[in-house]
Amino acid sequence: MDIKTVMVVGAGQMGSGIAHVCAAAGYNVFLNDLSVALVEKGLDGIERNLNRQVAKERMTELEKANSMERLSPSIDLNDAENIDIVIEAATENMEIKKSIFTKLDEIAPQHAILASNTSSLPITEIAAATTRPEKVIGMHFMNPVPVMKLVEIIRGLATEDHVYETVEKMAKTLGKVPIEVNDFPGFVSNRVLMPMINEAIYTLYEGVATKEAIDEVMKLGMNHPMGPLTLADFIGLDTCLYIMETLHKGFGDDKYRPCPLLRKYVKAGWLGKKTGRGFYEYG
Ligand code: CAA
Repeated sequence: MDIKTVMVVGAGQMGSGIAHVCAAAGYNVFLNDLSVALVEKGLDGIERNLNRQVAKERMTELEKANSMERLSPSIDLNDAENIDIVIEAATENMEIKKSIFTKLDEIAPQHAILASNTSSLPITEIAAATTRPEKVIGMHFMNPVPVMKLVEIIRGLATEDHVYETVEKMAKTLGKVPIEVNDFPGFVSNRVLMPMINEAIYTLYEGVATKEAIDEVMKLGMNHPMGPLTLADFIGLDTCLYIMETLHKGFGDDKYRPCPLLRKYVKAGWLGKKTGRGFYEYG
């Protein structure tokens, strides 16, 4: 199948990053969210990032203008009536995702693929909320989307091979490297990354070292571009907690129990960079 038109549901950090790379690669994109303000915020972020690419001479002014032209704001899921693929990047909440997928299943044409950018929720369960589970798939991008090469492509129980192949091909046209994984909690990326971050939070909680020291150990000792506590702030502590809870519940194994300090920060509303405070403070 030839994909030409995409709808990205959710204009936050991930959704706007996905819309950015899709528009830059030549796809027509509806960027959908609940309000005009949310969509405009997403589009402003995309324009800022495209300007950065122009300033670095990686893109011309004309290419930037064409990319912006390909982006259409949307606050109505009915705009999905002529799309070829939806990439959902809404809140990480199973009930919300199921409700979006059920609606999209009614609106999108029969050939359309319904993909989710979920970072840990079961694709098979999301697919069960539709009448086309064979066309439901996971397409997990990494933050910041325009920079990070990986897209984890997750096959649900019923995902058909040609759907997988179409999505894999699309990911390559976005300049990404697709990696195939099966549908288990946290897939590969977050099953490995989040327990590492959670353990870093435990080392802070138990007073093993300061936050700066923990981050330096992992940067200088393991060549990580960011320390785990800085990375947790960057991802969002609410997201980190949600993923740990998904792993804990999904595997029923206490090795995935979220650190009490992570819970405390989330309860305090210290969610990381997006709220100005997490493990660190942001201006
Ligand atoms: N959008 C677009 N481009 C961005 C960007 C953003 N938000 N942030 C940084 N960049 C670009 C910069 O323009 C710069 O581009 P050039 O190399 O072309 O000049 C490049 O990224 C490097 O940026 P900086 O020099 O400002 O900063 P840096 O060297 O510290 O890199 C980083 C920033 C790429 C974010 C780097 O710190 C990094 O790789 N961090 C780890 C990121 C990571 O682990 N992401 C995965 C998170 S987990 C996830 O997403 C999945 C999940 O489910 C939770």
